[in-house]
Formats: sequence, C-alpha cells, structure tokens
Amino acid sequence: MESNSDIKTTPKGFQCTLCNVNLPNLPSLEQHVKGRKHQTLSTVRHSRKTQEEHSVFVSGIKPEVSQTELAEYFQKFGSVADVIMDKDKGLYAIVQFSEKESIQATLSCVEHQMKGLKLRIKPREKKEFKLIPKKSDSDKQVLDRLKPQLCQLVSVDAQMQFVVERFQLGENEKKTRGLLVQLLQEVFVEFFPDSQIVPFGSSVNTFGVHSCDLDLFLDLEKTKMFQAHAKFTTEPEKGEGMSDDGHSEDSILSDIDLSTASPAEVLDLVSMILKRCVPSVHKVNVVSSARLPVVKFHHRELNLQGDITLNNRLAVRNTRFLQLCSGIEDRLRPLVYTIRYWAKQKQLAGNPSGAGPLLNNYALTLLIIFYLQNCEPPVLSTVDQLKDMACEEEECVIEGWNCTFPTQPIAVPISKNTQSLSTLLSGFFSFYAKFDFAGSVISVREGRTFPITDFLSKNKDEEATKEPSRIHHHSPKLGPLNLLDPFELSHNVAGNLNDRTQRCFQKECQEAEKYCRSLQYQRKSTKGKSWGLVRLFTPHGEVPHTKVEKLTISVPFKSALLPEALRNQLHAAGDGFRLLWFQKVCAAVESVLKNVLRCHVTPPTNFSTDSEDWAVKAAEEMETTSSSLSTSLNDSYDSVESQNEASPAGTAVVGAKRPLSPDIDTSVSPQGKKQRLTRRGKPKLPAWTCLQRHMVWAGRRKVRRELIKDPDMRPEGSCVQVESRVTAHIIEKEPELKEPLEFKVEPQVVGETESTKAVLHLEPTSDNAGLFNNFFHFLDAFLPKMVETLLQNETGAV
Ligand code: UTP
Repeated sequence: MESNSDIKTTPKGFQCTLCNVNLPNLPSLEQHVKGRKHQTLSTVRHSRKTQEEHSVFVSGIKPEVSQTELAEYFQKFGSVADVIMDKDKGLYAIVQFSEKESIQATLSCVEHQMKGLKLRIKPREKKEFKLIPKKSDSDKQVLDRLKPQLCQLVSVDAQMQFVVERFQLGENEKKTRGLLVQLLQEVFVEFFPDSQIVPFGSSVNTFGVHSCDLDLFLDLEKTKMFQAHAKFTTEPEKGEGMSDDGHSEDSILSDIDLSTASPAEVLDLVSMILKRCVPSVHKVNVVSSARLPVVKFHHRELNLQGDITLNNRLAVRNTRFLQLCSGIEDRLRPLVYTIRYWAKQKQLAGNPSGAGPLLNNYALTLLIIFYLQNCEPPVLSTVDQLKDMACEEEECVIEGWNCTFPTQPIAVPISKNTQSLSTLLSGFFSFYAKFDFAGSVISVREGRTFPITDFLSKNKDEEATKEPSRIHHHSPKLGPLNLLDPFELSHNVAGNLNDRTQRCFQKECQEAEKYCRSLQYQRKSTKGKSWGLVRLFTPHGEVPHTKVEKLTISVPFKSALLPEALRNQLHAAGDGFRLLWFQKVCAAVESVLKNVLRCHVTPPTNFSTDSEDWAVKAAEEMETTSSSLSTSLNDSYDSVESQNEASPAGTAVVGAKRPLSPDIDTSVSPQGKKQRLTRRGKPKLPAWTCLQRHMVWAGRRKVRRELIKDPDMRPEGSCVQVESRVTAHIIEKEPELKEPLEFKVEPQVVGETESTKAVLHLEPTSDNAGLFNNFFHFLDAFLPKMVETLLQNETGAV
C-alpha cells in the first residue's frame, strides 16, 4: 500500500487518517485506498506540499499592487509559476516559483523594495494536511455527544431544558457579539454620522444558538437628516469641512446623497467600509437579489457570519415581539430550541446562506407561536390581543403596519394552560400532522387561519380588508405553506418553501406524532437505551420507514399556480372548492391518459368526469358537517394518551391510506379556531379501467429530444402537444405489446385536515409481462406535471 503512514491499525480493523474513515478488514481497506476519495486527497496533499515547498509569503503590499507587478519583481530570483493574492484587502500574497532554489535566493536578499514599498518575505509555514470535517460530520459529532447526555436525564421536560442549555448563546458569546456591534458602530458613524447599528434576529431574540448569524440593521434615518441639514446650513464662518455639530463632512457622505441613492449603492459603500476599515472582516459580499438586499461578511477571529441590511425596522420590531413572547411564557424557549433542532436534523429548516426552499428559523418560530395560540387554553395570546394590552405610549406603526404590543411581559396575564413541555411538544407534531396547509393561510396576528379562497381572487382582497389590520398593499405570495408575518401582513414568511419541503415537514410531523405516542418517547429506558428526544433528533433518512405505499400518485393543490379565472371560480365555491378542484384534476388525468398517453380508458359505468353525477357522487361521499364542537386540543391528548398502550413504538406508515371510517379531527379548521369537522369519508370515485398497448414510457426522452431538434418534426405549441407527439411517434415506431397492460385508477381527494391533494391509487389487473412497475414509475413523475400544465391552461369553465 503506497502511503502506509495514513493507515493505522485499530481494535476494530483499520483507520485511514487521511480520509478519517474506519475500515473493518483488509479487503475493504485495499478497496478504500484504490478508491476516488483516497486518491483525490493524496493528490491534493501532494500538490499542496509541492506548492508550500516552492513558495514564499509576501506582506507589506498595498491593494494597488497588481499580480503582474509582483510576478515581474520576483522574476529576478527565478521563474515565477503563480502569484496568489489576498482578494479582500490586497495586503499579502503568495509567490510560487517553478524551482525550489529560487526560495533561498529570495530569502537571502536583505531588502525587497518595490514601487516605494518595503516588502517582507517569509518562508511558508509547514501545515499538516488535514481533511476539514464536513459540516454534516461535525453535526454528527454534536449529536453523538448529546445523545448520552439526554439519555441520562429523568424526563422529556428535563431533556428539553438541557437542549436550551446546550445550544443557547453563552454570556461570553453575547459579550463578544456586543463588542463587534460596538466596533462596527464606531466605524460606521465615521462614514455615516448619526447612523446606528441595531442587532436583530437570533443574536438577540432569545433563541440564538452557538455560531448563529449576527443580523444587523444599519439605521441611516438620522444620517439622512444630518445630510439634509448639512446641505442647507453650510455657513461661511464654519471651519471648512465641518457641519454644525462638529461632524466631519470629509467622509463618504460627500460622495453620496442618501435621499436619492439606491439601496444597492449604499450597500456597495457599506461593503467597501467593511473590507477596508474593519479588522478581521473578510468574505464581504453584497447580495442584491435577496428580498431585502444585504451585505454578508465573515469575522475571521470570532468565526462569525454577519449580515447588514438597510430599511429593516420591521425585523427589529418583530425581534422585540419574539423577546416579549419568551418573557411572557417560559415554556417557549425549550419548545423553540427543541423544535428548531429537530427541524435541522430532519433538513426541514435552516437554509444555508439564507436562500433556499427550507423553512427559515423565523417562520418555524412563528409556527410554534401559532400552535401555542391555538392550544386549549391558549398558551400565548394573539398579536391582536397583545395590541389591546399595550398602553398609549407603546403604540408603534412601521411602514403603515401596526406593530403595537406591550414593552414588558408583566402587562400580559399568565396563561391558564399548565401542560408540560413534553405534552406541548407532542401536541405541536399532532397539530401540524393534520394541518390543512393547502387550504389555509395562517395568521399569527389573529391566532387563526383564513381559508385560502379569501386570497385567491384579487377583487376579493378588497372584501377581505374589512379589518383595519388587513387594509394593505399587495396580497401575500401564496405557496404550499402560507404563514403571514404578524406585522407585515402582506408577507408570507414561508413563501420560499417548495412543495417538497412542505410535504416533508408534514410527513415528519406525522412520524414524530406517532413516535410521541410511544413509551419510548415518554419513559426513560431502564436499560440505557435511547429514549425521549433522542429518537426525534435522529437525522433525516436514518430512521427506516416501515412501509411505503408504492402505488399511489399524488397531485397536490397548488393554488399559486392556477390561472386567475380558475382561482376566482374556486373562490366562489367557498368550502366546496376542493370538490371543484378535484373534478378538474380528474378530468385532466383522464385527458392525459387518453389523449397524451393513448390509453384506452373506460370510465366507471354511467359515470364521467364531465357529468353532474360526478359532483353529486363526490359530495355524497364527502358529506362534511362543520360543527362548533368544543373539543379541545387537550382532548386529542387524552385520546393520544389512551392509545399509548396499544400503539406500537414504530414510525408512521408513510403515505399509507387512512381508514375511511368516521374519524373526528381535532385540528383547526380553516374557517375558525374552534371549528371541528366530522367526516364520513373522503371523496373517492369508482375506478377507471385502462388499457395500454404500447410501451409509451420507454425512450421518451430520446424521442422528445429528436423531435425538438428536427425542424420538420418539431411540434409547435404547448408541452402537452409535444408529449402527445412523442407518444404518437413511439406508437408508430414500436411494435404493439403482445399482451396489453391493464390497470385500474381510483381517484380520491384528500383534504379537510391534511393538505389538499388528489391521490390516484393504481393497481395492475393484467400484467403478465411484468411491465407495470416501470409504467408506474414513469407515471408518478409524468402525470402530476401534465395535470398541472393542463390546469394552468384552464379557463375556469367546468
Ligand atoms: P432567521 O430566519 O435567520 O431567524 O431571521 P433567526 O432567529 O435569526 O435564526 P438564525 O439562527 O439566524 O438562522 C432573522 C431575522 O430576520 C427577520 C426576523 O427578525 C428574524 O428574527 N425576518 C426573517 C423577517 O423579519 N422576516 C422574514 O421573513 C424572515
């Protein structure tokens, strides 16, 4: 083996110290050493070593010095292979020679002078090559250490408190953050007189974790006033370059008029100040594409990521709101820390670098607050209730949004809810496991949901603005999860989520809900096994799913993608919108099977998706009765508790059909907080029988590519037409199957308390050639996409 120094023998086999992996035996070790990871790392290490041996470290340069100038200067000591400069500040460089001997020649020169600068030259430090552990590896180490600590505690409540202690920002961390804020304040005030740097977000909202971002708002309001004032009051007797109050005008401000400058221009200046004037700050980047443009930076010594935004007064205010909630309710922090860690482990929250389709921590915290507002009795008041508890001096309006709430927690009465942390935690999972995300818009402001139909029609927005708090701007961007900011009511804080994240969030809540019913969650193991939170924190993908229902295809309700006319129609249908939408989906599925994939489709006898019978039949199936039962969330815990004995410790059956038998749902209905729905079943229609005579799924991509390439063949029009042509082409070229594939499709709408979706249950009835599985996998991706396209072209007419 080429580099035996990397391999160590351990009691369990071998360890490769280069790649940081354990190998159980010699054959696996040999395979590993020949493998890509080990080979790549060996090569990288070799080239790093060569680079180290051939280069010198140069300091004392200035940002104006270019790479070429440096290369030219060092050429006299030997051929220069490369010059690497410190991009951020241009203060040092690494000069690499082609020959090792040139190093000695460079170092023996007593003085290096270039463009009037005195350069300092040092040999390169010899660093041991080490694989930097991936973030997931260090996360794993954190969890590995956490597990035994959690297991030895006496209750889930104690575990939750421990999670807070383990992750919260320590006093020293808060102090260093404070010092950095102070330093930035001192620097920025030099350039922007009277400006203020205000921290917000996790560093100060009481939910911060070690190494969380430092979110900062650069408040330039007073600077603008200063600038306006200085413009009009320059008096001859004043010292040159000085304003009234003695501030120096010889600053960046003389180059920029804040009253007219764009945020991008101001942020460019901010970034320049950070790069040039703040020690240890590097990796400075302006991200103009974010909802709120931001300058990102990293503080090397504190290993801290910082974000500076402008015009972000609302964020400072909502940070105060989160602080207030923590002050009012002691149980909030353990819940937030536990659920945030759970969500991180399950890859549901925490978008690296701010952008992405996952929940952000702010949205997740609001989901927790909303749940607590809906417990019985409520654990937290609604934002509207808090507004009424505030006194006159606490009134606060920002950008037209009412942001009033009491400053002190003492102004808010203590909750009558006395549930334990562990019960509240399992309640959170039950609450969102059954939540109708597709049909509702969550309002933390009012502590209830609005039906999504209120937001589907532009005209209806005006109707919906009877309440003063909602008379505002544009309507929120709708998506698979709609969660209104408590103050900026036109902002969906979960608007970045994609369908997959929303589905995963709900699926993980369902899994967690099942787990919380088990004894493994509730009781400390006497045998030292994992229990309580430990299993909840097992990273995504590590808990085996017991059974996956394979033959169902889901078409989710995506209100945001529907055309205006259809949205209006659904809006008009009110509570019946699901049925109407389901009917559209069924018609589209039938059309894709028949017209695009050329299946022979036989609808159930006397039954067609076009007919009136359809709605009648589906409505009979559904028979939904809304009633204001006073059943509380507590009742659901009772039922959960009573099932404990019977319920297995296993995880949820993902995608499993729920029984159609009567069941009472205890979640919140979209119409109001206390409304409950009793269901006889979910609309499920008799099955279509389908016959497929060709392998229309095989080689589609290739045919499509050829069709699109060939100008004579290229089908004009929509992707539905393209796909129909692809099928026609396959049918023309490929022989018919000896025995046609026969299968049943049984459509069903699932909604009410889960996200609305149409589920198609597929079952082969004749498949002697064993082709159904391949066809099903193709349909699983193809059908929902085509249905979506057809619905997007819907005019709204039934
Ligand atoms: P984050 O989602 O980053 O939350 O938003 P966080 O609590 O700071 O968590 P981490 O640790 O940095 O991930 C930061 C702040 O930005 C504001 C809120 O004030 C939030 O506390 N914010 C975020 C909004 O006002 N609206 C949003 O949609 C998102």
